Amino acid sequence: MHVRRRFSVSFDYDLRFTRHVFAPDNSDLLEAFGPIPSGRPHRCLVYLDDGLTAANPGLAAAVARWFELHEDRGVQLAATPRQVPGGEVIKQDRAVIELVGRSIAEHNVCRHGFVVIVGGGAVLDAVGLAASLAHRGVRQIRLPSTTLAQADAGLGVKNGINAFGHKNFLGTFTPPWAVVNDADFLTTLAPRDRRAGIAEAVKVALIEDAGFLHWLVAHATAIAAGEAAAIEEAVRRCALLHLAHITGGGDPFEHGSSRPLDLGHWSAHRLEILSDHTLNHGEAVAIGLALDLLYARRRRFLDATLVDLILDALATFGFALWHPALDLRDRNGRRRILEGIEQFREHLGGELCLAMPDGPGRRQDIHEYDADLGEACARELKRFARRAARGAMT
Ligand SMILES: NC(=O)c1ccc[n+]([C@@H]2O[C@H](COP(=O)([O-])OP(=O)(O)OC[C@H]3O[C@@H](n4cnc5c(N)ncnc54)[C@H](O)[C@@H]3O)[C@@H](O)[C@H]2O)c1
Ligand SMILES: [Zn+2]
Repeated sequence: MHVRRRFSVSFDYDLRFTRHVFAPDNSDLLEAFGPIPSGRPHRCLVYLDDGLTAANPGLAAAVARWFELHEDRGVQLAATPRQVPGGEVIKQDRAVIELVGRSIAEHNVCRHGFVVIVGGGAVLDAVGLAASLAHRGVRQIRLPSTTLAQADAGLGVKNGINAFGHKNFLGTFTPPWAVVNDADFLTTLAPRDRRAGIAEAVKVALIEDAGFLHWLVAHATAIAAGEAAAIEEAVRRCALLHLAHITGGGDPFEHGSSRPLDLGHWSAHRLEILSDHTLNHGEAVAIGLALDLLYARRRRFLDATLVDLILDALATFGFALWHPALDLRDRNGRRRILEGIEQFREHLGGELCLAMPDGPGRRQDIHEYDADLGEACARELKRFARRAARGAMT
């Protein structure tokens, strides 16, 4: 006997943009929880990125106060908000699964409770993974606190930690219950972390929205100077493009091998590891994009002048487009960065599929990568980065 049935599961995606989310009269988070089942308050655990709390010392108290004020509206803190290590360090081992899993068990948070995660992409990924494993998935509300997290990482349906020498090797696909982007969080970011999200904005603009791409190029100086209005607009447009892709792209759980939002990422993920995480994700993506832009120009997928404009904009944002890890070679003299191609292929299940630009705001998939051309692109990028660095000094 043979039975075949098809079923599908639908998700609602709730994304809000706000300011001062924990101000007593702000109701965005309350609305994000959704209707309260009669008589049973939503039990919540809150995790805070310790880099965020260091920059906002009153945050933990404001969160506790907000929940106190809204307890009669059906939301209840199951425990005091807990700080967790911010940055990639939280993704480097499995301690976070133990910590969050134990709290969920000890504080009787069931699958209808909530884990509220406030922090950068690394904290969202790691705590999100732990929440997705406990009870096979406790609902999570994400409050991303960096440009990269508000524009990209916090919106995705993926989470994970690093393991066995690979980025995000252990993880799950778990859509968040809701995402609340508070622009006010972005004001305390260090310039490095502020610029990181802009690399993802360039990425998505390049393959989805030519108008946004030209806007980014035109506002490169304002963004580099940290002008809040420009940064907020870049983050918001990038977030909406990502959301459109996730909800309308047809393959949110990446069952197929096409991963359009991974332009520049085959090398970026490798570079993060090869640089021992001295490069953050956004910085590695900027270099990965530069390599793919040069490749696209050599393959005539993109106009030469446009490639120059985008490379110059990346340099204007403040990204260094070279890192010594790009020069690392294996026993056979091949650049180790090219290992990223093989890892991508494995990750996709054997068939290589790389997103490449196909004119501004358009994308195509390629299934072969010419390593000699890649080598030439790396050399060209080194020369470009040297010139850009000299230009920045004069
Ligand atoms: N799941 C996904 O779809 C996805 C997509 C892209 C990136 N990512 C992951 O996201 C991570 C990078 O995220 P990121 O760029 O947000 O960096 P991050 O999470 O490493 O945070 C950078 C630093 O900023 C601090 N910080 C956070 N908010 C702050 C604030 N408001 N003020 C001051 N400091 C603050 C953190 O403590 C940390 O030290 C990487 O691990 C990457 O793999 C995941
Ligand atoms: Zn990315």
